[in-house]
Amino acid sequence: MNTIGILTSGGDAPGMNSAIRAAVRTALNNGMRIKGIRNGYDGLMKGDIYEMNVSSVADIIHKGGTILGTARSTDFKNKEGQERGAQILSDYGIEGLIVIGGDGSFKGAKALSDLGIKTIGIPGTIDNDMGYTDYTIGFFTAIETVIDAIGKLRDTSSSHGRAVVIEVMGRNCGDLGLYSGLAGGAESIIVPEHEFSIDDIVEKMEHGRKRGKLHHLITLAEGVGDPYSIARELEERTGIETKVTILGHVQRGGAPSSVDRLLGSTMGSRAVELLLEEKTGLAIGYVDGKLIEVDIDQAVGKKSQFDENLYELANNLSK
Ligand code: ADP
Ligand code: F6P
Repeated sequence: MNTIGILTSGGDAPGMNSAIRAAVRTALNNGMRIKGIRNGYDGLMKGDIYEMNVSSVADIIHKGGTILGTARSTDFKNKEGQERGAQILSDYGIEGLIVIGGDGSFKGAKALSDLGIKTIGIPGTIDNDMGYTDYTIGFFTAIETVIDAIGKLRDTSSSHGRAVVIEVMGRNCGDLGLYSGLAGGAESIIVPEHEFSIDDIVEKMEHGRKRGKLHHLITLAEGVGDPYSIARELEERTGIETKVTILGHVQRGGAPSSVDRLLGSTMGSRAVELLLEEKTGLAIGYVDGKLIEVDIDQAVGKKSQFDENLYELANNLSK
């Protein structure tokens, strides 16, 4: 294989640049050419493609976002769009493709692999919602961002004797809320994987107040409920003023953490090695401390296993 391509797709995630850098440098070190495809599948269908060299990826390992740009493309979900993408890859002489993204992006990668393009997937999303891998690139940086916010909200909430509902991202997955809630010492954690009970939170808030706790921090995974309604109900029932902070896209940015740089660097390099071995239709993951590869078919749609032990621990520690 002489020429490969690389794209990032779906929501950006800190550490994607580390993966791009590793893939580009590994390809060049092995005498291959590598082309960057801008703005995910959207850019692919438009032929927005450029030759990358060693300098294209200089000074990016520490940068959030993705230098390639990313997009969500509806057209690529159709057979026609996928065939156009495959045709453009072959017009540009691209024999192998690395796709960095989440579950949706992997479905696109699978479609291209089925159309004869050798394709490898690298998991990049802050949601950690891909069940075949323990962690996705971007997840740990997002946790750092959330716990930084939790720490600041703790300061002001304690000063005013308030509670705060902190809405975090995660799509349909509670990992970001759980891990950041545990690491940030949140008193209550609301995730899609568990029915939540307002009664339990009210009881915790009242119990905390009795023992002199001035704040009550609640992480709420997006989509589980309306943060303003939850806050209003808690305030009405406890008499404790309850604010809402929606962290939003701030969770997607920032310099990647060490873990995300390491995941990006190792996975980016491995993806090129797999293409050199003429492999296709594989997703790289990280399981029990090691890089693994599985058929992208097995990776797609595999829901992540919610860590019940961590959830129980977080609840026990916040009593
Ligand atoms: P993520 O990759 O983070 O899960 P999305 O679900 O938005 O993000 O998917 C990213 C892109 O992947 C979509 O905009 C679309 O171009 C492509 N994609 C999603 N689902 C499919 C599908 N079923 N078939 C082909 N491509 C898809
Ligand atoms: O998949 C990453 C993610 O940030 C989710 O947590 C969130 O639901 C979604 O993307 C937001 O998407 P957008 O940036 O398109 O608003």
